[in-house]
Amino acid sequence: MTASATDPLAPPEVPTVRLETDRLILRQWQHGDLGPVAALRGDVRVGETLGGTLTEDQAHAFAQQMATEIAGRGWGFFAMEDRRSGHFAGFGGLRPIPFETAFTPAIELGWTLSPALWGQGLATEAARAASSFAFETLGLDEVVAYTAASNRRSQAVMRRLGMVPDPALDFDHPRLAPDHPLARHVFYRLRRP
Ligand SMILES: CC(C)(COP(=O)(O)OP(=O)(O)OC[C@H]1O[C@@H](n2cnc3c(N)ncnc32)[C@H](O)[C@@H]1OP(=O)(O)O)[C@@H](O)C(=O)NCCC(=O)NCCS
Repeated sequence: MTASATDPLAPPEVPTVRLETDRLILRQWQHGDLGPVAALRGDVRVGETLGGTLTEDQAHAFAQQMATEIAGRGWGFFAMEDRRSGHFAGFGGLRPIPFETAFTPAIELGWTLSPALWGQGLATEAARAASSFAFETLGLDEVVAYTAASNRRSQAVMRRLGMVPDPALDFDHPRLAPDHPLARHVFYRLRRP
């Protein structure tokens, strides 16, 4: 990320949201996240549920896109920092769904953790903070989530959050080829408590 007039890491035009949980900080992306996010998006365990691994350049472009969205809107898919270590832990938060399907427009709750941190409840913890922000601060009535039908870990996060499946809205992801092994996606929703 190089500094420029449009640098998303320049002082923001809207206040940038920062969410804190017991173990995580969800915040705007920083230059120091670029190495760790490239490692995360290059990890085959992550790639096998997100439609493939990314090259370093692709991962950096992804981080830049997330940072640009947060700079413009104040919130989005944040970088997540492990408060215990200060290290990058993954990314997640809230984001308008960037494609059209039967349930859009809608705001998606999303999460991806470094594999070393799986199995500790951190994705659920981050998503609880993001959904509280969605309902209490943004005043949304509903957030949604979707994932490949084979992604059991992500669906377990949805169920832990109290999200409800709506199989009538399961769909083939419009950005994947119809015969892609991850094409079929399941849909969950969470209404304001
Ligand atoms: C999806 C993903 C974030 C889920 O991670 P996860 O660690 O399984 O989910 P959580 O952080 O909520 O942790 C839940 C696990 O921690 C355990 N846990 C431990 N302490 C916990 C606590 N305080 N609260 C909740 N769960 C806790 C749970 O029992 C559960 O264990 P299990 O896996 O043995 O069932 C992770 O697998 C990932 O990043 N995958 C690749 C990217 C991806 O698929 N992203 C989603 C795209 S839609």
